[in-house]
Amino acid sequence: MVGIALPALAWDSFRLEAKGTDNLPNSIIPCNPISKFFTNRPASWPNAAVLLQSSAVHVAVTGGTGFVGKAVVQTLAAQGWKPRLLLRASPTALHSASQHPPSSCRGSQGLEVRRVNFSSRDDVASACRGVDAIVHLVGIIAELGSNTFQEAHVGLTARMLQAGQDAGIRRYLHMSALGTREAARSQYHRTKWSAETLVRASGLDWTIFRPSLIYGTNGGFTAVFEQLSRFSPFLPALGGGRGLLQPIANEQVARAFAEALRTPSAIGQTYDLCGPERLEFRQILEAILSSLGRRRIIVPIPFALARIQARFLEFLWPRLLRRAPPLNRDQILMLEEDNIGNGTAADTAFGLVHPSFRSGLAGRHS
Ligand SMILES: NC(=O)c1ccc[n+]([C@@H]2O[C@H](COP(=O)([O-])OP(=O)(O)OC[C@H]3O[C@@H](n4cnc5c(N)ncnc54)[C@H](OP(=O)(O)O)[C@@H]3O)[C@@H](O)[C@H]2O)c1
Repeated sequence: MVGIALPALAWDSFRLEAKGTDNLPNSIIPCNPISKFFTNRPASWPNAAVLLQSSAVHVAVTGGTGFVGKAVVQTLAAQGWKPRLLLRASPTALHSASQHPPSSCRGSQGLEVRRVNFSSRDDVASACRGVDAIVHLVGIIAELGSNTFQEAHVGLTARMLQAGQDAGIRRYLHMSALGTREAARSQYHRTKWSAETLVRASGLDWTIFRPSLIYGTNGGFTAVFEQLSRFSPFLPALGGGRGLLQPIANEQVARAFAEALRTPSAIGQTYDLCGPERLEFRQILEAILSSLGRRRIIVPIPFALARIQARFLEFLWPRLLRRAPPLNRDQILMLEEDNIGNGTAADTAFGLVHPSFRSGLAGRHS
């Protein structure tokens, strides 16, 4: 049961709470005035980055209601960019954005929110009109109905790129994932690869990011185990927990995106985003428990058993709860391989400074 309960929490942690169905219009969420734009702006800029010279650069952000998206929007706003959140045209997404505006917007000149029918090329293009750059973060870890990997990763990326081309928006930042490659075993990674291929062929001034596992406040995988450890004496380690990961703090991922917008040499580059340590999944669980001061038993769950559970959940969850399954076989394929890379280029280009995983976790509780 632990193996089933865990992923259920995992998926929940990827979502924002959406408690109502208010039909909110496109809007500006009002906030107080702030900030000095471009405090670290270099004295001169190459022509390729001409858009970055403006003192009011509007950036369209997709996926801004997600775990990573909130941090990215917060960092962009704190650095003086003007994020325009493009949200799915579902009332719950709009409600959740209005209830949970990124806290940084309290110090910004306003957070612009547009609802978008992402399946319409025209609607996407119109939502992007007037911005100077696109930050495309949308991604899913599990399919639900028509929100398939192909649609969320490839179809939507194609429409965002088209919007950029149609509206003459040159700068485009793309969220991919570590492990993405042409012949990857998981659909997640294969469709991320297809999306990357479209980005590289777009002719835009693109930058691609491939993070390892991301941790931070208000969500992500650490929250899953923190919640689980509240009531369970066991924590499951799928496949024995021997796979290697390089967890990276959400703040550093967000910083990479924000810095890339003003780093002309990042154009045309693909960056791994990795934390400073290569940790076994079991070590990650131990660090989480230690940061909480809790003692729990880490139970190895063989992949074969996890696959049976996943198959069961894939059948049940969408039918009973109309939600994506909290664990699926595609995720297990990803867990069967290490998720490590080389983040040096990104660290150097964007001045990323990584806390150790343990101190990063401790910082979240202080
Ligand atoms: N978290 C990690 O450890 C990790 C690691 C590597 C890469 N990534 C990548 O980082 C990105 C963000 O991940 P996350 O952890 O922040 O995920 P998340 O919390 O689940 O957020 C996903 C975001 O995408 C939006 N979205 C999903 N399907 C959509 C669709 N069909 N049309 C429009 N918007 C859609 C969601 O909007 P709603 O609010 O409307 O649902 C939400 O804003 C993804 O591309 C993911 O692949 C994440």
